[in-house]
Amino acid sequence: MDIILFLCAAVCIICMCLRSLRLASGSRLPPGPRGFPVFGNMFQLGSQARSHQGLAKLAAKYGPLMTLRLGCMRTVVVSSSGAAREMFKVNDLSLAGRTVYEAMKVDVAQSNNGSIITAQYGPSWRLLRRLCSREFFTSGQLNAMKTIRNNCMEDMVRFIREESEHGKKDVEVAKFVFFMNFNLLGNLMFSRNLVDPKSKEGNEFYALAAKIMEVVAEPNLADFLPLLKPFDLQRIRKKMHYYTEKAFEITAGFTRARIQASKSKEEREKGKKDFLDVLLNFKDGNGDELSSFSSESINALALEMFIAGTDTTTSVVEWALAELLHNPQIMNKLLDELSGVAGPDRGIEEADLESLPYLRAVVKETLRLHPPLPLMVPHRAMESCTMMGYEIPKHTQVLVNTWAIGRDPETWEDPHCFKPERFLDSAIEYKGQHFEYLPFGSGRRMCPGMPLAHRLLPLTVAALLLSFDWVLPEGVDPSTVDMREKLGITLRRATPLRAIPLPRRS
Ligand code: HEM
Repeated sequence: MDIILFLCAAVCIICMCLRSLRLASGSRLPPGPRGFPVFGNMFQLGSQARSHQGLAKLAAKYGPLMTLRLGCMRTVVVSSSGAAREMFKVNDLSLAGRTVYEAMKVDVAQSNNGSIITAQYGPSWRLLRRLCSREFFTSGQLNAMKTIRNNCMEDMVRFIREESEHGKKDVEVAKFVFFMNFNLLGNLMFSRNLVDPKSKEGNEFYALAAKIMEVVAEPNLADFLPLLKPFDLQRIRKKMHYYTEKAFEITAGFTRARIQASKSKEEREKGKKDFLDVLLNFKDGNGDELSSFSSESINALALEMFIAGTDTTTSVVEWALAELLHNPQIMNKLLDELSGVAGPDRGIEEADLESLPYLRAVVKETLRLHPPLPLMVPHRAMESCTMMGYEIPKHTQVLVNTWAIGRDPETWEDPHCFKPERFLDSAIEYKGQHFEYLPFGSGRRMCPGMPLAHRLLPLTVAALLLSFDWVLPEGVDPSTVDMREKLGITLRRATPLRAIPLPRRS
């Protein structure tokens, strides 16, 4: 205990010196709540400081560009479309770094250059982004996956039917959407389905992904008072190590199995390349030092892709179905539109999406109200820059509250209402150019998986609605569907959505 007190005192003195140096230099930071010496706003704000809702309340008081001091971590929060425009249009490069929390470092520690989400802006990150945009998420690659996507959807419907015993009992919807996403990514990366609802690995990974998100979201004293890092007082590093190690074992098992089993003759003849082929080919060496990936890096990258790509898409589909059950008139309007194009015997094809504007509007409205990464992923100033006339010093953490931006009453009418109609005659897209609506981010660090999610989200919602009539469990009616959020890195529901899937008849 003595040593902890001594360390706190040391941090105190260092922070006070730094603060007085800053004041002397006359820098002008964005406004924010006054804090205490050393700890800043850490204890005053509690978990509010890491929650999109808490930060939105503070922004209403201090403005769209706000400074918080969480111990030694200076944080600037962007909460309006104007501030976001200035961030991504004017200062994108300066702010393209990442703040990596202690909990996130566990994953990185296992690899040298296998991280994309937590990588600092630089050659290794650029190489991985290039691979994503030129090899994995190109229209060609996504078109080629059409049959696989359809198969994964069919499996999802079959799994739901089996679990509900043909509509006799309710199911946890998110679990099946998660498995569908997991298998889809499994095919993209390793050319195979990886899990089904009965598989031990599938269920374990589903639980681990939720745990990893929960632990990363826990405010960690070591992030704010770096001298406490070695002590891991809240055991966050230990917990994270345990969960990532287990998740890592699962993805590493998939990689090993795929390397051992040669691909089918048919696939070889077609010259079909999956994620692993691309990474392994780079490993063969193209004369570029960075184009070699260790197997740890490949495993870490696979784990990151699974975590980034499954929880986000699952969260959006679950919220979309919850909103539709909560708003039966919107559900009916969407069913009318879908039945004009498809039915239980003919599913939705990707080519149909153009003629389903209401379906696309439902997905967009869900992303506006329930962006799965409400604070995006923390950015970091790689160099000092100026935003809205304020100084953003080097190393500042920058959070973009895309949840608050999507509910800003200055931009959106009835901002808290679920109204897909608002997108019907609107040119607003989520491609990073409209700063009032940024569920996938914008600029250099924008989500590379957006082209995949763009196709997947409407197709999944349509598949769920065309295959089943969804009925709420006994005791719940549309007005009492629980719409509360659970705090975490991804915006999940406070209670998982459960509903009864009655099979639809032709
Ligand atoms: C509904 C679906 C999704 C949403 C809303 C979403 C949203 C986001 C957001 C907001 C970011 C952070 C942007 C920033 O920090 O500026 C991000 C980053 C990322 N996303 Fe997604 N995402 C989705 C699906 C996916 C999928 C399917 C994949 C891949 C399979 C993926 C892979 C990534 C990766 C690798 C990053 C890190 C990019 C970087 O740091 O350079 N995401 N995503």
